[in-house]
Amino acid sequence: MGVWWWRLLFAALSGILFSAQPCASQKVPKYRFMQNARTAANISYYDYIVIGGGTAGCPLAATLSQNYSVLLLERGGSPYGNPNISNLAAFGAALSDTSPSSPAQRFISQDGVINSRARVLGGGSCLNAGFYTRASPQYVREAGWDGRAVNESYEWVEKLVAFEPPMKQWQSAVRDGLLEIGVLPNNGFTYDHIEGTKVGGTIFDHNGFRHTAADLLEYANPTRITVLLDATVHRILFRVKDGSKPMAHGVVFRDSLGRRHKAYLNHHPRNEIIVSAGALGSPQLLMLSGIGPSNHLKAHNIRLTLDQPLVGQGMSDNPMNAIFVPSPRDVEVSLIEVVGITSFGSYIEAASGENFAGGSPRDYGMFSPKIGQLSTVPPKQRSPEALAKATKDMESLDEAAFRGGFILEKIMGPISTGHLELPSRDPNHNPLVTFNYFKETRDLERCVQGLTTVEKIIESKAFSPFRYPNMPISLLLNMTASAPVNLLPKHTNSSLSLQQFCRDTVMTIWHYHGGCQVRKVVDNDYKVLGVDALRVIDGSTFNDSPGTNPQATVMMLGRYMGVKILSQRLGAAPSA
Ligand SMILES: Cc1cc2nc3c(=O)[nH]c(=O)nc-3n(C[C@H](O)[C@H](O)[C@H](O)COP(=O)(O)OP(=O)(O)OC[C@H]3O[C@@H](n4cnc5c(N)ncnc54)[C@H](O)[C@@H]3O)c2cc1C
Ligand SMILES: *[C@@H]1O[C@H](CO)[C@@H](O)[C@H](O)[C@H]1NC(C)=O
Ligand SMILES: *[C@@H]1O[C@H](CO)[C@@H](O)[C@H](O)[C@H]1NC(C)=O
Ligand SMILES: *[C@@H]1O[C@H](CO)[C@@H](O)[C@H](O)[C@H]1NC(C)=O
Ligand SMILES: *[C@@H]1O[C@H](CO)[C@@H](O)[C@H](O)[C@H]1NC(C)=O
Ligand SMILES: *[C@@H]1O[C@H](CO)[C@@H](O)[C@H](O)[C@H]1NC(C)=O
Ligand SMILES: *[C@@H]1O[C@H](CO)[C@@H](O)[C@H](O)[C@H]1NC(C)=O
Repeated sequence: MGVWWWRLLFAALSGILFSAQPCASQKVPKYRFMQNARTAANISYYDYIVIGGGTAGCPLAATLSQNYSVLLLERGGSPYGNPNISNLAAFGAALSDTSPSSPAQRFISQDGVINSRARVLGGGSCLNAGFYTRASPQYVREAGWDGRAVNESYEWVEKLVAFEPPMKQWQSAVRDGLLEIGVLPNNGFTYDHIEGTKVGGTIFDHNGFRHTAADLLEYANPTRITVLLDATVHRILFRVKDGSKPMAHGVVFRDSLGRRHKAYLNHHPRNEIIVSAGALGSPQLLMLSGIGPSNHLKAHNIRLTLDQPLVGQGMSDNPMNAIFVPSPRDVEVSLIEVVGITSFGSYIEAASGENFAGGSPRDYGMFSPKIGQLSTVPPKQRSPEALAKATKDMESLDEAAFRGGFILEKIMGPISTGHLELPSRDPNHNPLVTFNYFKETRDLERCVQGLTTVEKIIESKAFSPFRYPNMPISLLLNMTASAPVNLLPKHTNSSLSLQQFCRDTVMTIWHYHGGCQVRKVVDNDYKVLGVDALRVIDGSTFNDSPGTNPQATVMMLGRYMGVKILSQRLGAAPSA
């Protein structure tokens, strides 16, 4: 199956030229409290030290700085002034940059699915597809959170970084298709998680300009916060007194010149270190600090602080599968704007148009081999050579082959879990992580049900202007897996093949979580069990991914826990 097939299919179609959205010029905050770690003192003291300036870490540090001195340590650089981060149409540019200075650090799970993690102030919110949507009331209840404080925290986040998406023709057709096939009711535009079809929020504003968790530092008290960039934390330091629990009291971090710095907590029993290094970084850092399965730590010559076999367990990544639908007419460039929340635990979302991923306008944005998405070969075969070949093939396709969009399904949960291990004692090395996609049958069933729903949308009347009338579903499926790039599915026998299609074309939607789960590694207040003065607050604590997409809840959690920590300590709720 070669490129010629595509040439034939699209030969008669005229290409449309991609026109990039103008680079929106926006006010860029000049945080005078933000500096490079090279300028940091060798030793410094704070009331709170937050490790990881990501999606949870930024709102958390901003909130704590209202009343206490806070150090926020981020291994990456600033997101400000980088068009790869700021522009919606550049989605994929950062993800396709695999250099050591990239804001995205690529990793490949042991399952073979190519993935990415943030390395920049603002974390995943600087790389993501922007969709902003809250967790369900049931999720909030089961997490044991206070519903009112949760709502206030969401609102605090939304005031700065959430917007209503533009909803042009293609996204509207997907929405109308969902309604036509019975994913009801129509819930209009809302941040709320309600069964049915809705338009969700986005962190891209009306100019296609991205707002991120780093923007929440505008809420910080500039006199009480220090943000250090290029500051990689290597270890948390514990004070161990006979008969009491190990107590976290400092951290070791290195700047970009490799120079070592130490930061300690001011001496007060309620001062704390909080790890917000993300689902890969947080369990990794606990292990590097001696909290983890003792045998594993011993194998790496790490001095044991606490034998905790559950650190690094419960790792999950929600599988994503998608079908590409070429369009006979022009489509807008869109990331996720609409979601169908089905009754059977599959979420339907979509993205359209050509998104730049590294200079060429001929690209598939969220589904580009340039960013590691490769559904045309099964996970274990996604070698660097396979990626390079797909990227090269893509360049020779007719432009018309890029007109259209992907309708995707992601399953809730998931139920399948895996685990994480250290490859070495170097915090810059990606941990080895296994997600076990579709290990549990229920996950596979939800994928099949989700794809069946996607097929119905493609065949709906509402969506018909955006598909070729002579292209049956079997061909589209065949396309997403057999084309030179992510277009066609491999298995033509649809009854048998949807399960196989799920396994063969599985990609990530980057909602991986777990590793420091609540009631396993941390308690209900996110305090690490078995030690003092240490919490973990970020996506690593989740048992399931919240909402249809997690970032709203990750940011909310940073704010929510900041407020909770302050009010427990001050005896009153701080004012916003
Ligand atoms: C490409 C992509 C698309 C996505 N699309 C969406 C979407 O549309 N909607 C949505 O809701 N969600 C989306 N997500 C998911 C969402 O962005 C993440 O779940 C969320 O950002 C995770 O937040 P976190 O705080 O747990 O981790 P992160 O935001 O990753 O923060 C962790 C931070 O810790 C830093 N760090 C790690 N280790 C160390 C160390 N040793 N020392 C110092 N710093 C360290 C990292 O550099 C990082 O900045 C997407 C994610 C990606 C990557
Ligand atoms: C800081 O540490 C470096 C070595 O890492 C040392 O050369 C320097 O003298 C130290 N500075 C202070 C003020 O102690
Ligand atoms: C905490 O900070 C807020 C805002 O800076 C301030 O209004 C409040 O008085 C402070 N509370 C205490 C107990 O210091
Ligand atoms: C929080 O807001 C949601 C709507 O976004 C609402 O359904 C829920 O009742 C609110 N919870 C509380 C406790 O006010
Ligand atoms: C933007 O992305 C491109 C392609 O991935 C890369 O070559 C370039 O260096 C990036 N620019 C910045 C400012 O990061
Ligand atoms: C699917 O693709 C294969 C080649 O990859 C081809 O042999 C087969 O005929 C195609 N099936 C359909 C229904 O198009
Ligand atoms: C297609 O799948 C059905 C159901 O699994 C099976 O009975 C049939 O033999 C398959 N046909 C082919 C050609 O593989």
